[in-house]
Amino acid sequence: MSSISLLSGGPMQVASSKIAKVAIVTGASSGIGLEAVRRLVASGYRVVANSRNITSANTLDGTGDLKRVDGDIGIQETAQRVVDTALQSFGRVDLLVNNAGVFIPKPFTEYTAEDFQRAVGTNLSGFFYVSQLAVAQMRLQRSGHVVNISTSFVSQPVGALSASLANLTKGGLESVTRSLAIEFADEGIRFNTIAPGVVNTPMHPVEAHEFLKQLSPLKRLAEVGEVADLLLYLESATFLNGEVVHLDGGAHAGKW
Ligand SMILES: NC(=O)c1ccc[n+]([C@@H]2O[C@H](COP(=O)([O-])OP(=O)(O)OC[C@H]3O[C@@H](n4cnc5c(N)ncnc54)[C@H](OP(=O)(O)O)[C@@H]3O)[C@@H](O)[C@H]2O)c1
Repeated sequence: MSSISLLSGGPMQVASSKIAKVAIVTGASSGIGLEAVRRLVASGYRVVANSRNITSANTLDGTGDLKRVDGDIGIQETAQRVVDTALQSFGRVDLLVNNAGVFIPKPFTEYTAEDFQRAVGTNLSGFFYVSQLAVAQMRLQRSGHVVNISTSFVSQPVGALSASLANLTKGGLESVTRSLAIEFADEGIRFNTIAPGVVNTPMHPVEAHEFLKQLSPLKRLAEVGEVADLLLYLESATFLNGEVVHLDGGAHAGKW
């Protein structure tokens, strides 16, 4: 909206011509990120999609309103190329979906230094650099939305599936969602997080599905389309800010 003065009377709000929104999605070659890109494009967004091997994965074509950027999002130079591509191709950044992530289930004392570096590198560094750059652009626009993908295990660890590196790293995303929501509220930038239970993606082998279904009171996995539904809802729900929304069939709510 922009404000104009009338010859008589005060300022009036008029709708700007409709500009397609621009989204960045990390970890977009597969699973939740892939479906998010498809749904955003279908909803009229122009999208920059990133993963380490997004071109060779060939699950998305990089034409028209969709650009692909290969690279590890935990490296600052990749984050810079992702945001530069959005600005050079589409001129703005309205939505950043920090989806790239790794899940390494293990007993705590068995984690290696390499496991730790992988989890921190993707789940935290992969949030940090691209968010700094995207938020800097959103500040110029005085609008924007950052959506992080966490896990329901942060609120409800499960005895049968130890994964404390997920808690350590994704827990940070949930906390920073709240702090950044406060820090940037005056500048019109929102921060929210989706915390799914187990989702039916290539992250989990089919043989594990029967066990994993038992980790939700609804006794099934979430589908990627349900995560995309929530993402689009968060985009439309403009008074939601600093929220962590659980999408786990009720697992975070208690025992069953
Ligand atoms: N599936 C679940 O049950 C579940 C539950 C809760 C939360 N989550 C979270 O949801 C997110 C997506 O998971 P998913 O199940 O959709 O996984 P997925 O199907 O394994 O996809 C992971 C995506 O991340 C990319 N990726 C991995 N490391 C990356 C890096 N360093 N830089 C850039 N891209 C990277 C992968 O592509 P490349 O190999 O090409 O890089 C791929 O596109 C993750 O953050 C995960 O923790 C998943």
